[in-house]
Formats: sequence, C-alpha cells, structure tokens
Amino acid sequence: MAIRNIRLEGDEILKKRSREVEVIDEKIQILIEDMIETLHQYNGVGLAAVQVGILKRVIVIDLYDDKGPIVMINPTIIKTKGEQKVDEGCLSFPNQFAKVIRPEEVVVEYLTKEGKKTKQKAKELLAQAICHEVDHLNGIVFMEKIIPGTLEYVEPQK
Ligand code: NI
Repeated sequence: MAIRNIRLEGDEILKKRSREVEVIDEKIQILIEDMIETLHQYNGVGLAAVQVGILKRVIVIDLYDDKGPIVMINPTIIKTKGEQKVDEGCLSFPNQFAKVIRPEEVVVEYLTKEGKKTKQKAKELLAQAICHEVDHLNGIVFMEKIIPGTLEYVEPQK
C-alpha cells in the first residue's frame, strides 16, 4: 500500500468527469487500498479517485465507526430526501470549511470492491459524504456549492 499525492485546489483534474470502472482488476484493488491509506493519513472522511489523479468512479468513505471504510465503485445517487445545512471541508482544499446544503437522506447504488451490486440508504453525515464524493466524480467541488459568507480558514492542528 502507498500514500498517494492529493490533488489540490487549482488542479484542473478536479474539474473533470471520472469514467465508469468496467473491470474491477488488480489495478483498481491497489487504487482502493491506497485511497483508504491516504484517507486515513489525512484523517479525512471521504476521498474520490480523482483526488489522487485517477479519473475512475471510485470513492472511499470512513466515518470512523464500526462500519469501517466503505468503498463504492460507480456510485449513483438514485433518490434524495430532505435537506441538511452542514459544515464541510475537503482534502483538496486544506484548512477551509464552509456551510453547504446537502440532502438529509440518499439512496445510492454502487458496486462493492468484490463487484457486488448494492443499494444503500444513507442519512446525515454518510449522506453528506456520499454527495460530496459523487460530486467529485462529476468534476464538482464543494466550493461551488457553499453558502456565501460561510467560508472559514482553520489553522491546522499541530
Ligand atoms: Ni472533497
């Protein structure tokens, strides 16, 4: 496993649409392992493959609960419900946080890393994280969605 470089604000790749994964081969498995390691290295909640420079529809999310890291390949949000106004940040925009409106609940379809088609209902923070990461796959970053005037810079903790 390896920690990969995170693409930061201003990198044009963050605006590109990622492509569907057609075959879950060893290369994808290694990408997933590296993404999880990179996510943990930076204490992130979620990471999309584009953030490590790979335009494939793969996301990893970890809420640091008993569910462990969640891997979603080719995720599609098929239903949303409600709204939540939440604080959000992104590993590609270090030390910046702002408020965004996200759905309160989503239903997402995806393939597991074993290739199993799955449908999952998610609420609150998990719903927020899924929306944020799926946006990345479509070349959208959270800065485009922030509520004006809510951006804050927070000094990194030493
Ligand atoms: Ni992000």
